[in-house]
Amino acid sequence: MQDLLKNALHDIEAADNLNSLKEVEVKYLGRSGQITELLKTLKDLSPEEKRTTGQKTQELKTKFSESYASKERELRRKEIEAKLTAEFFDLTFSEINPQRSLEPGSLHPLSILQREVEEIFSEMGFEVADGPEVESEYYNFEALNIPAHHPARDMQDTFFLDHPTDPEHGHLLLRTHTSPVQIRMMEKYGAPLRLIVPGRVFRYEASDATHDSTFNQVEGLLIDKNVGLAHLKGLMQEFLKRFFKDEVTVRFRPGYFPFVEPGIEMDMLWKKGNQTKWLEVMGAGMVHPNVLKAAGLDPEVYQGWAFGFGLTRFSMLRYAMEDVRHLHSNDLRFLNQF
Ligand code: FA5
Repeated sequence: MQDLLKNALHDIEAADNLNSLKEVEVKYLGRSGQITELLKTLKDLSPEEKRTTGQKTQELKTKFSESYASKERELRRKEIEAKLTAEFFDLTFSEINPQRSLEPGSLHPLSILQREVEEIFSEMGFEVADGPEVESEYYNFEALNIPAHHPARDMQDTFFLDHPTDPEHGHLLLRTHTSPVQIRMMEKYGAPLRLIVPGRVFRYEASDATHDSTFNQVEGLLIDKNVGLAHLKGLMQEFLKRFFKDEVTVRFRPGYFPFVEPGIEMDMLWKKGNQTKWLEVMGAGMVHPNVLKAAGLDPEVYQGWAFGFGLTRFSMLRYAMEDVRHLHSNDLRFLNQF
């Protein structure tokens, strides 16, 4: 009996998972297990022997069961712990283990600049508006005086969506500029209007140091009576002074966009290495009468100007960045600088 108990306790101790522990139980307490067999022999003994041997056998069985239960608890706990480490991600882990501290995130440089632009224009009395990134041909082109088959459509290479055409609004596409929001806002609020529209735009074009296929623009629109380009020039100069916190050198030159007449473009001096060159940053002009009409306004009563600048281009100048593609590279060596 002593040997049997010793072996049984040794087998329990040696079990390293619940399955092998179960086998130990079968070996000793199963239908023909060693303790079960021992108990069976009791019936052949004399009443005297039955008492003494029976008691000893019961003690043996109790010791086995106690040892078995304690081993079972230990193995069960180990199994749960292993599961926890394998399956769960503990958000508080870094707090209890400072070696694994979480790095707090920060705003993307384009978000920082967008907020600054919104603040400056808000101070000058402009609302901040928003529009959809998935647009229709109607809003992106047609209402902006760019009819189908007009060569001006080729100025902005477009991503079209594989989606049924709407008879009224044409194909769906990723907007190529923030200008469609001009129409949406005039339709919704009428005149007078004074707003900016910061947003992401998309063009199917090869990227290089100053072009990306996804970039950010800020549209501006002012509709009122007796408005002229001189207002726009004065306002831009004031905006640039506040945004760059310095005097900056810009030049205005004539530019063609079907949705303005006359149209202008603005360039800024950009230092690239030891070279300095003009970088095109903005298109603008007086809103074309056809655009006012498309949005339901009377061009005999209202005029307005609009601009669209590249926030991405401005970020190159603000941060002396040599390549716009850093912005969407998701490279922490770049992002950690902001
Ligand atoms: C337009 O998108 C017009 N909607 C702007 C406009 C608005 C004109 C209102 C008149 C009235 P354009 O394609 O030139 O124009 O783009 C405007 C600005 O976006 C450019 O001056 C430039 O700063 C920026 N830009 C254009 N293409 C890219 C590109 N691929 N990557 C980064 N910035 C770009």
